[in-house]
Amino acid sequence: MVSFTTLYTLLLGLGVNLVSTLPAAQPAPTAPAKLKDRATTCTFTNAASAGKSKTSCSTIVLSSIAVPSGTTLDMTGLNKGTTVIFEGTTTFGYKEWSGPLISFSGTSIAIKGASGHVIDGSGAAWWDGEGSNGGKTKPKFFYAHSLKSSTISNLNVKNTPVQGFSINSATDLTLTGITIDNSDGDTDSLGHNTDAFDIGSSTGITISGANVKNQDDCLAINSGTDITFTGGTCSGGHGLSVGSVGGRSDNTVSNILIESSTVTNSQNGVRIKTVYDATGSVSNVTYKDITLSNISKYGIVIEQDYENGSPTGTPTTGVPITDLTLSSVKGSVSSSATDIYILCGEDSCSDWSWSSVSVTGGKTSSACENVPSGVSC
Ligand SMILES: *[C@@H]1O[C@H](CO)[C@@H](O)[C@H](O)[C@H]1NC(C)=O
Ligand SMILES: *[C@@H]1O[C@H](CO)[C@@H](O)[C@H](O)[C@H]1NC(C)=O
Repeated sequence: MVSFTTLYTLLLGLGVNLVSTLPAAQPAPTAPAKLKDRATTCTFTNAASAGKSKTSCSTIVLSSIAVPSGTTLDMTGLNKGTTVIFEGTTTFGYKEWSGPLISFSGTSIAIKGASGHVIDGSGAAWWDGEGSNGGKTKPKFFYAHSLKSSTISNLNVKNTPVQGFSINSATDLTLTGITIDNSDGDTDSLGHNTDAFDIGSSTGITISGANVKNQDDCLAINSGTDITFTGGTCSGGHGLSVGSVGGRSDNTVSNILIESSTVTNSQNGVRIKTVYDATGSVSNVTYKDITLSNISKYGIVIEQDYENGSPTGTPTTGVPITDLTLSSVKGSVSSSATDIYILCGEDSCSDWSWSSVSVTGGKTSSACENVPSGVSC
């Protein structure tokens, strides 16, 4: 057996930093000082050094970093148990590219915001009213991809160029107290497709206490299971959405709870969209204690006819919506809006349970189809 000292000398000879290469689980009885080094707080003021040294620190403070244009603040592949703290104002240089501006992956990662911090996506430089449909190529904001058993808390985000948090292939991830304020993008309708939280292929996601002002979905679940959105406030956007579901590699949505939230000044309140001629399933979805006000298109909209981002008017049955519970979904829409619109294929919406659903102020739809029993449209 090679002694620890010999191994250490050998590694040093190879130019390898023992502190960052020693697996966490390996006992190292003769090197207490080195073990202590592993509990190091590193403060970085530039993105490149943070990216380079990220696996040598147990706590990483990202202090007032100006991320250079066309580069990602790369916090992927962090050591298990790393804490990352955003401090001061984080900004991003301008370039037409698809991003992301920030990316995280790892297990048991805690991402936090220090008091008074702002992550300023600097979106106005890209905003042209076209979002991801054209015009300037805009960077995605934050990839929370392959984060396991992790938390993101108290981040204060402003002005994302286009979509905000992309949660994909994540398991057991909790996002608490996230503020996203893209309301500057309301000016001349320049901000567009600024979804707050997009979720795909993820399990065990909880978003609580989000405060969102944006111009697209407050929440969009494209696929995933065991997802909770609670205590959220959504304003200016397109509402609390499931979908569109279908046409991707993962087209299953199940065990979703969206509760105790308000949607104001938005196009829609509650929305479920599935894709025309696609396959998949939406099951066991609950919207509970949702309050709507000043909704401009639909208070509640559920439709199985989407194609290329637009409704076709013709529903198909390949993505059934089953076990849909609405409990205490209440509020008002503007007079030009429609209270409730349901467009289902034949027998592709079933086992719905609605109670205390009351949407008022707008028009009654005359175009609803195949509405399940016990539900009125
Ligand atoms: C339905 O989803 C909820 C989460 O919203 C979960 O607690 C419950 O167990 C699910 N029910 C079934 C039958 O899977
Ligand atoms: C209603 O919401 C729209 C955005 O959909 C907004 O422009 C308008 O100012 C809001 N009205 C009130 C009274 O807040």
